[in-house]
Amino acid sequence: MKVIKCPKKMHKISSELSLSGKKIGFVPTMGALHKGHLSLIKKSVSLCDETIVSIFVNPTQFAKGEDLACYPRNFKEDKTLCRQEDVSLIFHPSSSAMYPNGFQSTVFPGKLATVLEGKARPSHFAGVATVCCKLFNIVNPSIAFFGQKDYQQFLILKQMVFDLNLPLKLFMCPIVREKDGLALSSRNKYLSKSERADALALFSALSAGKKLIFSGERNVSKIKNSMNSVFSDFPLAKPEYIEVADSDNLSPVKKCSGKTILLVSAKLGKTRLIDNMLVKA
Ligand code: PAJ
Repeated sequence: MKVIKCPKKMHKISSELSLSGKKIGFVPTMGALHKGHLSLIKKSVSLCDETIVSIFVNPTQFAKGEDLACYPRNFKEDKTLCRQEDVSLIFHPSSSAMYPNGFQSTVFPGKLATVLEGKARPSHFAGVATVCCKLFNIVNPSIAFFGQKDYQQFLILKQMVFDLNLPLKLFMCPIVREKDGLALSSRNKYLSKSERADALALFSALSAGKKLIFSGERNVSKIKNSMNSVFSDFPLAKPEYIEVADSDNLSPVKKCSGKTILLVSAKLGKTRLIDNMLVKA
């Protein structure tokens, strides 16, 4: 397994792989790999000839005051995990290689990036879209693999691929959870023992909402109220948003019908977590 740091070198290798007829699968990550990331890697290895994983903590998707400086980094362990999964190559550029002096062009995502996470983190998705556009151009994959965990991110990137005629497909993999239901996230490392216990609020609220819909409830205010009331059992978890939305465009729905998605974000101390659940009403 190779580790490549230079974007030009990476592009040369991936161009040669494509020219020789290899189907490249790509898993973009910020490292600190866990079983959620590994599920994407496994999917890519099973569907593609070569799997390339990028490990890059992208500074432009963090706002001032967010956790860029303390974001978990463990390249040595990440490398071991990638090797175990039969990854062909890790792309691990420096910030200055990705954003050299004079860098000034960005991808500006549209309406989808203005709601939910986009409201809470206004510059976040422009940073994500820009780095993914660059990574797609550098790595040249046939398919890029993303997690449902960041559902809004997936929709925004799918829209970008369509709008900018980027020649790849995006594949969404299901959310990997701990035994008790907490969605795996690199940020779970920030939680104290008591915060970790109350972090279950997100999954519990989503499960309560889904159960209510399955029992026949269609009134969104009732569903949201019931999801909100779950948080009183987990006092350290403070909900930021609880939304019932159309899974195609994330606009809030008044009545559940067809494809609905439940989305929540909550703060536990300084740590902000997100989770979601697709519901077929
Ligand atoms: P990161 O948070 O490292 O996540 C990389 C990929 O792993 C994303 O597609 C994310 O949705 C997926 N993932 C994370 N937790 C998961 C879980 N519990 N189950 C399934 N998939 C999970 O998302 C990013 O990095 C960045 O924004 C990136 C796309 C790399 C751009 O910088």
